[in-house]
Amino acid sequence: MTTLCHFLLFVFITSCFRIGNTIEVNDDQVTQVHVMNALPKDSAPLEIRCNSADANLDAKQLKSGDDYSWSVEEETATYFCEAFWGNKFASWHAFEPPRDANRKTVFWLINENGFFLGYDNSTWVEKSTWETE
Ligand SMILES: *[C@@H]1O[C@H](CO)[C@@H](O)[C@H](O)[C@H]1NC(C)=O
Repeated sequence: MTTLCHFLLFVFITSCFRIGNTIEVNDDQVTQVHVMNALPKDSAPLEIRCNSADANLDAKQLKSGDDYSWSVEEETATYFCEAFWGNKFASWHAFEPPRDANRKTVFWLINENGFFLGYDNSTWVEKSTWETE
């Protein structure tokens, strides 16, 4: 009987450690950032340049309908992005640690009115607008 109790206690304690480890792994989560070109079809291509203190992403040319995404491994750094479309330009923060670090996915929708942030790819809040020289 004592042996069985010890065995059950051992199983119980081992499970507690397993649960502890799983929670730690989730804390380490990576955020996926999506930038979607929702500009009018057949308009000029959209050029995007993003970087953070830890990462320099290559400049990207997006056609209407394109979705460009990357994952943020180091969730303590802000990602600054610049966008160029015809004679218009804009800059915005694609990833901000206090705002986005606990999100699994961050969506950006770019159309002729500006830059919209969403976390579910369907509800949007305007965060930035186009500028012209
Ligand atoms: C976001 O929504 C658009 C329009 O409904 C869809 O085409 C696209 O696949 C979605 N993207 C992701 C990453 O869920």
